[in-house]
Formats: sequence, structure tokens, C-alpha cells
Amino acid sequence: MILIIDFGSQFNQLIARRVRECRVYCQIEPPTITCEQVKALNPEGIILSGGPSSIYEPRSPKIDPAILELGIPVLGICYGLQYMVHVLGGTVARSAKREYGFAEFTLKKDDGLFTGLSAQTTCWMSHGDAITKLPKGFQITGSTENTRIAAASDPRRKLFGLQFHPEVEHTPRGKKMIRNFLSDICGCRMSWNMTSFANQTIAEIRNRVGDKKVILGLSGGVDSSVAALLIHRAIGKNLTCIFVDNGLLRKDEAQKLKAVFKQNLDINIRFVKASGHFLKALKDVRDPERKRKIIGKIFMDVFDAEAKKIKNAEFLAQGTLYPDIIESQSAFGGPTSVIKSHHNVGGLPKKMKLKLVEPLKFLFKDEVRKLGKTLGLPEEMNWRQPFPGPGLAIRIIGAVTPKRLKILREVDDLLMAEIKAAGYYKKLWQSFAVLLPLKSVGVMGDKRTYENIVAIRAVTSKDAMTADWARLPHKLLNRISNRIINEVDGVNRVVYDISSKPPGTIEWE
Ligand code: XMP
Repeated sequence: MILIIDFGSQFNQLIARRVRECRVYCQIEPPTITCEQVKALNPEGIILSGGPSSIYEPRSPKIDPAILELGIPVLGICYGLQYMVHVLGGTVARSAKREYGFAEFTLKKDDGLFTGLSAQTTCWMSHGDAITKLPKGFQITGSTENTRIAAASDPRRKLFGLQFHPEVEHTPRGKKMIRNFLSDICGCRMSWNMTSFANQTIAEIRNRVGDKKVILGLSGGVDSSVAALLIHRAIGKNLTCIFVDNGLLRKDEAQKLKAVFKQNLDINIRFVKASGHFLKALKDVRDPERKRKIIGKIFMDVFDAEAKKIKNAEFLAQGTLYPDIIESQSAFGGPTSVIKSHHNVGGLPKKMKLKLVEPLKFLFKDEVRKLGKTLGLPEEMNWRQPFPGPGLAIRIIGAVTPKRLKILREVDDLLMAEIKAAGYYKKLWQSFAVLLPLKSVGVMGDKRTYENIVAIRAVTSKDAMTADWARLPHKLLNRISNRIINEVDGVNRVVYDISSKPPGTIEWE
């Protein structure tokens, strides 16, 4: 296990990714972690991340220097290296000019980090401060034209550092440096994979939960489904999932979910039909934020009431992923994920006073999908595109009525079928339809029509923070448009959304 200490760099997730790609398990912790906690985690190595601060700023993040004396190999990156240098008696000073971008790195001495690399390699710099004097025992291991001390180490104390960022793509041999650190310096076995993760997590859940009961809000999305499978493996029937049908779901969604979870996987689920509540409260509501608030509040009430019927429940499970955890822990409270602020179940743990189980909290989305596959989640569920908690309500612009829901459900169903048939479903982050509060004139079978307009939104994205509209083939768009207009009553015009995010958002409301 590798411990990454978060000094606030925007690249922390990338460091974690690189380590995982080398099949080594890692965990990110804040700089406030104590020496005792580090010892308890018993990592094979520690990586000190970069960060936006200058070491001389009064509130710049620092760790307990005793951590550097544990004899565990440490790799400091950018600010992480500067911190080590500063605390061990070297000097860091403001550079005359910020160094940002590509630089040619010349290797001076291989301390183990650079094994198998040539003497010259490209690296990517992003720093304002520079090291001017190394602490006793340290040696320069590499330089660039502008940065004399671009890499340094004290192999005797197992302290290593890079002024540049090995974790970014722009440092082409950076991954090799990280691999060298993990294998040659830390002696990691590099055998971590999803099966070992699943087995370890199942054992941990069993240990922690014992014979107590766990409740999980199942949405049918990948995260909650994989969390359910994992917990079910650990405690079987002591897990109860609650699925709230808010009346804002896609066509046949509840039935499909029932078939997979109840019949195929034999997981306890309570289906709560609450569409009446939701639709009544949404009547005549047009404002997007009000819609979201109403839906969030009713969801919590319905869920809470159902959960109370489960005797002796002590734990609430959630499919929280790693990026959420990193963002909420980040030393400097980096930009909060958009998805998170949307989360309509965020207030549940507080309200229900249950202990949290979050078995996916150290995984990225693609890793969750790998885990889902390992656990036998049907492909169709494992590859579902994200679907927002407030459901179709935020895709019906204006008031939500049963009639408009029906139209959008039909359009959505047809769109999904076409996107899947064309082999685009997995390539897109999301693809969906939006029903507009406008009508337009058309002509069908020589008759004038005056009907609804539907917008199609299809985006590519890595994490939903940014997104680009998908360049779907005209032939496919043509087919989608023809089928919608011909087959869905009440729609006579289809438009394609070509806005990126930012400045647009993925959902329209
Ligand atoms: P936006 O529209 O902000 O959406 O670009 C980013 C991603 O978040 C999803 N989304 C939600 N997910 N509850 C959720 O669980 C919500 O209230 C919610 N609103 C938006 C959206 O589908 C996209 O993937």
C-alpha cells in the first residue's frame, strides 16, 4: 500500500491513478495525518504531492516531520519535495520567473528512480519556487536548463524528490519513474487487482458490520449497484436495498431493476412506489431549482420512512466514489464536484443517524465498472450511463405532467435503442432527450401539425466536470429524428444540442 499525502495539487487523482495502474493499492490522506496514523496504515512508501502554496506562506500545509524519519521511502513531488528540503534544513526561494510547461531533463545520477531511462527526457514543470540549497545528505540527481535542482535525493534516508510532475501525460517517462519508486525502492509486489480488492473489501465489511443490518439506497446506477453486490456478498440477507420509484424514471426501469436484483442476484429489495407524492408536489412547478429541492426532500422523507421499518439497521451504505472523497478532503478544498452538489441523497446520513459504509470510496468510475464485472453485474447494468437523481423532471423543461412524462419516456426509449444499435452507448458519457416547453408548426400527411420539440443531447466526458457535444454521424441523427417524429405522438421536431460544458451544463436544468 502506498500513502499519498495531499498538499492540494490538482494532479493528486492522477498520482493515485498511476500508482493503481502499476497494480499497487494507494490511499490519499490529508497533511494532518499523524505519525501514529501513518504507522498504523503501514504503507510501503509515501508520496508527498504537489500543491499551490509557497512553503513560506504562513498557512502552507505541512506534515509531522517525524513521518520522514520512519524509514519508509518517501517521494516528494514539486511542493512535496520543497517541503522536505525546507524542513530538513535546505533552502527554497522564489524564482525570478515561474517555470511552467515542458523542459528537457538531464539525468545526473541514478538514485533508483531513473533506472531504464535515457540520460535526456522531457518533463513537465509547474512551479514558482525553486530549491537553492539541498539539506545535508542530499544529492542533485537531475537538472533542466532553468532548474538546477530538478531532482534530488538522499538514498541513505530513502528520501527522493522531483521538482517536475511525473504523474502527468506531458512527462512521457513519468510513469516509469513512479514504477521504479514502487517496485525498486519500496519493494511493492504490484499484484493488486479487482479480485483482491473485492475479497479484501468483503472481509472488511463483514468485520465491521458483523450481524447488524445495512440499508442501501439503490438507484440502478453503476455505483449503487456495485456497492449493493459487494455488501450482499459480505452479509447476504442482512443487506436491504430501498428503491424509490419517484415516477420520474425511464420506461420500464423499475421492472428491469427488479429482474436483475431480485430474480438474478437474489438481493433483498424494497420497492417503494411513491410517484403520486412526487408528481403532486411537482404540479405546476417550473423553476429548476425548486424542482430539485422538492424531489430531494420527498426522496429523503420516503426513504427515511421506509428505512425505519427495517429493525436493527445500524448502517447506511452509499456508493460514494474516490473523486468525491478526494475533493471533500483536499487540503485546500479544491473545486467541488458538480455531481456532488447535485446529490439528492447527500443529507441522508445526517438525518438518519446511521453509520456509513462506503465500500467504493477508494475507486474511480472505470475501476468500479471493472469491479462490477468481477462481481458478475450484468453488462447492461455495469455500463449504464449516469442518470440524474431528479430523473426526467429536469429533462422536461417547464411543468412536469404525466402526459409530458409519457412523451419523453417514449422518445428516450427509442433514442437509447438507436444509440445502442449504432454502437455509441459506451462511447458516450451520456445521451438523452429533453422535452421543450415550446410547440412548432409542421406538416404530416398533408396536414398541419402544431406539436412539441425535442432536443437530443449526447456528450463525451471523462468526469462530467467538462463535456463536449458528441459528433454523432448525420446518418444516425437522421434515423433518430425520423423515428421520433414518426413513432412518438406529440413530437414534430427534433433538434441537436451542440453546446459544450462549460459554458453549458450537461443537463438542461
Ligand atoms: P450537469 O448538468 O451539472 O451534470 O453538467 C453533471 C452530471 O451530473 C448529473 N446530474 C445529477 N446526478 N443527481 C445526480 O445524481 C442530480 O441531481 C444530478 N443532476 C445532474 C448529470 O446527469 C451529469 O452526468
